Amino acid sequence: MNDKKIKLESEVRSLYIHFPFCKHICNYCDFFKKVPSDSYSLSSFHNLFKKQDVAHEKILSKRGLRLGSLETLYVGGGTPSLWGKEGSQFLKKFLSGKALELSKNGEYTLEVNPGTWTDEVISHWLKSGINRFSVGIQSLDKRFLPILDRVHTLEDSFELLNYFRLKNLNYSVDFMLGLPYSESLGRDVIKELNQILLYKPSHISLYILTTKESYVHQKELPRDDWVADEYLKVSNFLTENGFNHYEVSNFSLPGRESRHNLKYWNLDSVAALGPSGTGFLKGAVGGFRYKWNVHDSNMKEEPLSERELELEKVYLNLRTFKGLGLSDVVSRGNDKALFSLIKEWRSKGYLRSAEGERLRLSSKGFLLLDSIMDDLFREKII
Ligand SMILES: C[S@@+](CC[C@H](N)C(=O)[O-])C[C@H]1O[C@@H](n2cnc3c(N)ncnc32)[C@H](O)[C@@H]1O
Ligand code: SF4
Repeated sequence: MNDKKIKLESEVRSLYIHFPFCKHICNYCDFFKKVPSDSYSLSSFHNLFKKQDVAHEKILSKRGLRLGSLETLYVGGGTPSLWGKEGSQFLKKFLSGKALELSKNGEYTLEVNPGTWTDEVISHWLKSGINRFSVGIQSLDKRFLPILDRVHTLEDSFELLNYFRLKNLNYSVDFMLGLPYSESLGRDVIKELNQILLYKPSHISLYILTTKESYVHQKELPRDDWVADEYLKVSNFLTENGFNHYEVSNFSLPGRESRHNLKYWNLDSVAALGPSGTGFLKGAVGGFRYKWNVHDSNMKEEPLSERELELEKVYLNLRTFKGLGLSDVVSRGNDKALFSLIKEWRSKGYLRSAEGERLRLSSKGFLLLDSIMDDLFREKII
């Protein structure tokens, strides 16, 4: 048998698909998205996707890789629920063309907007193998939906939450903090989350609003202290209600962490397709990050050295509940500086625990992650 035959191709078992359309554009959104038009239509997206798929196979095979049976799939956007029945069929065809089955044991997520779904559409996605949903609720205070230019009403949000609850579906809620006018209107995030929990989501992702200088409500943003207070209150509240604060912006019931996102945080390979979709391929040494162009099947490529990955790993480990293995940084010979930082961080309440082998951040530490990274750099620990 020659070498070529016995060499098994390595499989990439996670895939992100970016669906770029929304019914209406929220005024704060920083994702690539378009309202469908003659110049950018669903069929032009389908054509682009197919071209990217061909180019993608070449990129993978150049590295001895191919897509294998998927452990995780994430269809994000934009608003993938707008893709409808046609989208679920497109996905099915795409996967069967590659002999990729979605198995019972995998995690396959679709993003849903409360103003852009029907029972029929969700049923089609369920039939195509989707078994988890991520819902853009953002706020359950109706005053904020028009401020953000959301396409849906509060009644739409409740209808969707109720639907998922009644169908007993596994789903996550996107919830935003730091919204404009929060202070002047006295937004009560705990009251909103109390209502959300009645509908039994298994997972909550927090998004602290980030904006550009030109943002329409830039002058109405709350103070940093207000946002920090919201974040810490939410962390406390969700933890008291049985959720694990397992990553800076993510909370889950035990065992319901987002397996797809854990792949990013663990620096495992995640392939991507769709305009502006971003993938990462782990190499034997270093890695390779790529981002698809929005209008053609070319991509921006970013090779990552072993050193760059090592730094990312420190940052990503600190982002998660798993924490940073002390042995990963101690070997650099700057133990004294590290242990004095640990002492300082502990006294400031940034640490969940620094006992044993791993350094785990508290919610206060998560909030100050950037300054913790700065400390590690300044003291030449990483
Ligand atoms: C692709 S969207 C989720 C699905 C759907 N498009 C929706 O909004 O209902 C992903 C998340 O990104 C958040 N997001 C977008 N732009 C943001 C920004 N500038 N700051 C913070 N979060 C943002 C949204 O609020 C949303 O929950
Ligand atoms: S619906 Fe979601 S993706 Fe579309 S503009 Fe709003 S936040 Fe962005």
